[in-house]
Amino acid sequence: GKTDLTLCTGQMMPMVGLGTWKSAPGQVKQAVLTALNCGYRHIDCAAAYGNEQEVGEALAVWISPGKALSREEVFVTSKLWNTKHDPEDVEQACRTTLTHLGEEMMPRRADGTICYSDVHYKDTWRAMEALVDQGLVKAIGLSNFNAKQVDDIISVARHKPAVNQVECHPYLSQTDLLQHCRSAGLSVTAYSPLGSRDRPWASPDQPNLLEDPRLEDIAHRYQKTPAQVVLRWHIQRGVVCIPKSVTPSRIQQNLEVLDFCLSPDDMKLMESMNRNERLIVPTVEVNGKKVWRDSNHPYFPFH
Ligand code: A2P
Repeated sequence: GKTDLTLCTGQMMPMVGLGTWKSAPGQVKQAVLTALNCGYRHIDCAAAYGNEQEVGEALAVWISPGKALSREEVFVTSKLWNTKHDPEDVEQACRTTLTHLGEEMMPRRADGTICYSDVHYKDTWRAMEALVDQGLVKAIGLSNFNAKQVDDIISVARHKPAVNQVECHPYLSQTDLLQHCRSAGLSVTAYSPLGSRDRPWASPDQPNLLEDPRLEDIAHRYQKTPAQVVLRWHIQRGVVCIPKSVTPSRIQQNLEVLDFCLSPDDMKLMESMNRNERLIVPTVEVNGKKVWRDSNHPYFPFH
């Protein structure tokens, strides 16, 4: 029978929803998938359950352009936990939950576009500095900032940015930006340090960094793997790197890069591999500016 309740706001709330308290990460995604498949259209969540991100993964399987359900068809409840009741914390807590639950849970405008923030990063920086003042974080930094944007921050900063995290690997060596950040006192962290060959939009005509014959040759000479050679190159340039792996043997080998040293010639050879090839590109337009979309969703690359 009909099991919807009409709320005073006019919205319909299915009278049976799936509970997620105590559903372990590792199990809750399957539970939500099963529920949606059974016809549940109401999922009850909370940040305090520690599993909203995985709930979001399941929601994204069903709710996204071209998928079975539209956002309006599923009622999602979350809760503001007792650590977030200070009025100053409320919005952020809500945003965190929305992020975890997935892009389709984000508020949208009438034309369907997501309400990404459209504020100047200097204003955001001021708010981040307040986190340092309050002792909530020890250091604050930047990501995807170019040289001019780094300078913009430096010119207003009370707390200097510690790090700029940017895409960096032998095909995008970022030599100028590195130099710029260093002279401004920032460290650089390389994301996609191995060329992110598992990026979902990888195309067959883009060469795979880790299979580059020049790297294979160097690796052979040092009795290391191409990945280890690349990581060693980052380290010798003073760049922090964050190789992603879900494979235990690779997780281990990626740490075993301190027992050898690339010669200046090999370092130079690797510098010469630069193609200024950016693999991670901003694709969403907000008020005419391209921005990076949220990436913690299974369907992130597909539109
Ligand atoms: P996997 O996670 O299946 O082990 P990046 O850090 O640049 O985003 O690159 C991540 C990609 O590189 C993943 O596909 C990951 O595979 C793979 N990868 C990570 N470490 C190594 C390694 N030591 N050798 C080969 N591939 C690796």
